[in-house]
Amino acid sequence: MLLRFNFYSTFFTICISVLLILAVTRYKDNTKHRSCPERPRNSNNFLTVGDEEQWNNPHVASPNIDDILQETRVKIALELSNYNFTNSAAKNLQELLLESGGQPLRSLVISTWRSGSTFLGDILNAMPGNFYHFEPFMNVKVYQIRGPPEAEKAIITVKTLFKCDFDIFLHGYLEDYLRNKVVPWYQFRHNDRLWKHVKYHRDLFFDPMFISNFCKLFPFQSMKLVRFRLRLVQEVLDDHDLNVKVVLLVRDPRAVMQSRQGKGVEFCKKTSPDCSRPELLCADMISDYIAAKKLQHQYPNRLVVLRMEDLSLDPKSMTLQLFKFLGLSMTPEVEQFLASHTTLQVGGAYATFRVSRDVPFKWKNILHYDYVEEIQTACKQAMELWGYRLAHNATHMASKEFYPLDTFNYSTVLRSK
Ligand SMILES: *[C@@H]1O[C@H](CO)[C@@H](O)[C@H](O)[C@H]1NC(C)=O
Ligand SMILES: *[C@@H]1O[C@H](CO)[C@@H](O)[C@H](O)[C@H]1NC(C)=O
Ligand SMILES: *[C@@H]1O[C@H](CO)[C@@H](O)[C@H](O)[C@H]1NC(C)=O
Repeated sequence: MLLRFNFYSTFFTICISVLLILAVTRYKDNTKHRSCPERPRNSNNFLTVGDEEQWNNPHVASPNIDDILQETRVKIALELSNYNFTNSAAKNLQELLLESGGQPLRSLVISTWRSGSTFLGDILNAMPGNFYHFEPFMNVKVYQIRGPPEAEKAIITVKTLFKCDFDIFLHGYLEDYLRNKVVPWYQFRHNDRLWKHVKYHRDLFFDPMFISNFCKLFPFQSMKLVRFRLRLVQEVLDDHDLNVKVVLLVRDPRAVMQSRQGKGVEFCKKTSPDCSRPELLCADMISDYIAAKKLQHQYPNRLVVLRMEDLSLDPKSMTLQLFKFLGLSMTPEVEQFLASHTTLQVGGAYATFRVSRDVPFKWKNILHYDYVEEIQTACKQAMELWGYRLAHNATHMASKEFYPLDTFNYSTVLRSK
């Protein structure tokens, strides 16, 4: 009897232990997914079965739109109750809300693939009350919009989105979605303040009226584009109602090319010359430089340039300067974001690196000198313009004496204020 009892109790204990281990493992898996939802760069990885099922689940009750809008309105007012509006021209929150007849502060980040724009975009989106237009041209795949025929439509999209008008955009987006050309949960998850309301409701997502009214509640709007060259921004700046402030983010072409070749960066295939060929990257860097000079002359105080290396070497002070330029004030949320992101995702697909003097220069230890020479030959002029030094040979590249960054006189070409 005792033996039997022992047998059962042992059996019972083993069962409980197994269950516990299973539960803990599952919990760990869940927290892992929650804590780093943005890690996978490959959209296929990102398309978790859960998201797709949720969107197609007919059993989830429709939410009340008015409730969502009111809840968001109250939340934004609360989050900004101690906000210092001095840096903006506005006296109070109402003056920055489209729904109250005001104009929000709009920031546009222009960059290219693997240049740190996700990090900068996340800094801006750490602002409470920010509505994030994340890569509206993701459907054009790995391709640069430089002029006709795509430019005209793209410019209209940028302008209408900044006005919270989603009609045209969503119309095209729905077609692309039905043709499996876009993965909304990958793209829109970055706009977390919107996504949490639409992630279970496809109809709500494709309701331009809802998204428009939702967007109009936000005092700040940010957009980031990696497929849209700077000279096209002219027409966006010409729209004085929008009063957009533009940030051009550039990065050492050697670091960009190294990062684009990283493991897991499947999007940058040989079939996408805009992504795989350094001479195209650097032609864009030159054209962006010329456009920056011109636009800055035409619209002083509307355009700023930032080298990704300068941002990663001193994120706090650069962010502070940038915010001042954008008319934004530092908030505890942004400070917390910067403090908790002492790692910066600039390397391979899943790699994070500590922000330190060596971070932006990781390419030195990875790229073969032959390839560096090839990039430098194609990029000599672009590198000179943006203040990147040449490595003379393999020994020189590996040596401590070689520091890739030249001082860059922001004030000659580009005003930081
Ligand atoms: C608000 O910001 C301005 C400019 O940065 C500063 O001079 C002022 O002291 C701030 N006001 C408060 C109440 O913190
Ligand atoms: C490499 O470049 C450095 C710096 O320009 C130079 O001093 C050195 O002689 C070069 N070495 C070779 C092997 O060419
Ligand atoms: C940067 O350019 C400005 C304007 O041309 C000039 O006054 C200043 O001395 C330059 N600074 C440096 C460090 O070269």
